[in-house]
Amino acid sequence: MFRFRILLLLFFIEKGRTENDIKQNVLLIIADDAGFQMGTYREKICQTPNLDILAKKSLIFNKAYTSVSSCSPSRSAILTGLPSHQNGMYGLHQGENHFNSFDEIVSLPQVLGAAGIRTGIIGKKHVGPKATYKFDYEQTEENNSILQVGRNITHIKLLVREFLSNKSKPFFLYVAFHDPHRCGHTNPEYGQFCEKFGNGEEGMGRIPDWTGIYYQPDEIILPYYIPDTLEAKQDFAAQYTTMSRLDQGVGLVLKELEDAGFLNNTLIIYSSDNGIPFPNGRTNMYDSGVGIPMFISSPFHTERRYQVTNSLTSLLDIAPTVYEWFNISKNIFDKKYRLTGKSLLPLLEKEPSDTTKEAVFGSHNLHEVTMNYPMRMIRTQRYKLIHNINYNAPFPIDQDFYLSPTFQGILNRSRAHKDIRWYKKLSQYYYRKEWELFDLKHDSEELTNLAYNDTYKVIFKELKHRLFEWQNQTGDPWLCAPHAVLENKGFFKNDPQCMPLDNEILQLY
Ligand SMILES: *[C@@H]1O[C@H](CO)[C@@H](O)[C@H](O)[C@H]1NC(C)=O
Ligand SMILES: *[C@@H]1O[C@H](CO)[C@@H](O)[C@H](O)[C@H]1NC(C)=O
Ligand SMILES: *[C@@H]1O[C@H](CO)[C@@H](O)[C@H](O)[C@H]1NC(C)=O
Ligand SMILES: *[C@@H]1O[C@H](CO)[C@@H](O)[C@H](O)[C@H]1NC(C)=O
Ligand SMILES: *[C@@H]1O[C@H](CO)[C@@H](O)[C@H](O)[C@H]1NC(C)=O
Ligand SMILES: *[C@@H]1O[C@H](CO)[C@@H](O)[C@H](O)[C@H]1NC(C)=O
Ligand SMILES: *[C@@H]1O[C@H](CO)[C@@H](O)[C@H](O)[C@H]1NC(C)=O
Ligand SMILES: *[C@@H]1O[C@H](CO)[C@@H](O)[C@H](O)[C@H]1NC(C)=O
Repeated sequence: MFRFRILLLLFFIEKGRTENDIKQNVLLIIADDAGFQMGTYREKICQTPNLDILAKKSLIFNKAYTSVSSCSPSRSAILTGLPSHQNGMYGLHQGENHFNSFDEIVSLPQVLGAAGIRTGIIGKKHVGPKATYKFDYEQTEENNSILQVGRNITHIKLLVREFLSNKSKPFFLYVAFHDPHRCGHTNPEYGQFCEKFGNGEEGMGRIPDWTGIYYQPDEIILPYYIPDTLEAKQDFAAQYTTMSRLDQGVGLVLKELEDAGFLNNTLIIYSSDNGIPFPNGRTNMYDSGVGIPMFISSPFHTERRYQVTNSLTSLLDIAPTVYEWFNISKNIFDKKYRLTGKSLLPLLEKEPSDTTKEAVFGSHNLHEVTMNYPMRMIRTQRYKLIHNINYNAPFPIDQDFYLSPTFQGILNRSRAHKDIRWYKKLSQYYYRKEWELFDLKHDSEELTNLAYNDTYKVIFKELKHRLFEWQNQTGDPWLCAPHAVLENKGFFKNDPQCMPLDNEILQLY
């Protein structure tokens, strides 16, 4: 019923489209677990000339965040504009994890398809159900080797060429690289980051368009949240090499766009699904886990090219941006699924005069099915508040990250009571307070929890309130957790309530 209504509405939108609209396309490039390891973000060692060229033609986002630091949930949020708790993708899609969005959720490819735009996906899909995330053209892991459609940049180039050869309609093309994701867990034969895949050595095959760039561990300058150890540097060096494949892949995709004649009418968005797969990174709500690179390049907005915006931006803003680009109203959505993000196109013209009131929100539930660790987050320019709903449990570690040399190093040194050469203790990483409040201006590393400091009582209360409002607005089933039960059906249908459990004072009974 809901979907039918959308399609009906879109029928009228389609009728209303003008000749001008149909000249405009979108190319959305999402890298997998990519961070700020590129020249544009002042990384000196990792060489990324192609991304840097794109950045020169783009607005560069300095404060862009994912709403969830996990692959499938993040991709579902990108493609629907809805946080994971609202679209139903509570964790990973593949294998035993088996998470999917709700059947009634409407995604970008559906809406765009109904509006007469040709949609395509090349690379990592990792979301479901199929009917919700259906593209006209699909070359994904569902029926290909993920290495071929996600890491073989020659193969990706040829698929992009094939997609662009059909010039019948305006298009939305989503190129989802699997680089620079780890692969020590799934394909260890190719190295920790698949950095050997296609390098021409015996058994590795060759990717004709890729020239690997290699790094020595001793030249790596680690970010603050990585332990200062040899294995972490080796890990990073491998990731850098895989970044060179991503970078050259982006260069090839852009070349295809140019050769097909679409450079002057295509909006190009580059970003990543979540933070890097290192401690405090992916699966965390700390900035090191949710901060992501983002560039947006528009042929029709040249005012702010190679400028930086400090406006707080979320991946939840991607869908509204694409809808505005294609002149599709956000109001087509049912009240229950109204988008809370904003179009980023106005930012391409000018920086807002006041960004101090801005906030971005986060909502994480699981990653792997075993990793039940719901967290909610609000980040303003100055503060970050995290609600660890399952705070009595140890912070869960995923299969992929567990096997990484960096984490194994932390574990080994902790077991041996040796200096782990990290800015946290492992026990601190595992056991977190229910609330974490950080003053990012004085504590960008998020080490001093102010949630239980009376000096910050007022700010804590205010942020808690804003977070609650957002959870309520987005229909969060965890709205009242963990100290109350949300009752919103039957007698409470029109008057939802958080009904207290008194579990904080259990010892009294
Ligand atoms: C994968 O499936 C899509 C349709 O869903 C089809 O167009 C494409 O050719 C298939 N690719 C392969 C390699 O079978
Ligand atoms: C081109 O795309 C249109 C719209 O998706 C489709 O109907 C048509 O069959 C495609 N043409 C070719 C040659 O694949
Ligand atoms: C990458 O794709 C190209 C073109 O399809 C192919 O020739 C090459 O063998 C592939 N490389 C690997 C490592 O699979
Ligand atoms: C883009 O370039 C092509 C070929 O030069 C031209 O025909 C077309 O009008 C241009 N489109 C825009 C929007 O500038
Ligand atoms: C955008 O769509 C509305 C109707 O939904 C229409 O009135 C308007 O002219 C369109 N704008 C452009 C630039 O085509
Ligand atoms: C950690 O310890 C295990 C078991 O002793 C060993 O196999 C592994 O190489 C060590 N890894 C690191 C990174 O220290
Ligand atoms: C609370 O915060 C204030 C201001 O930052 C600081 O001076 C004080 O030491 C903190 N109190 C505790 C108990 O940490
Ligand atoms: C959520 O917001 C609505 C509208 O403001 C309000 O009526 C409702 O009581 C809120 N829910 C809870 C559980 O507070």
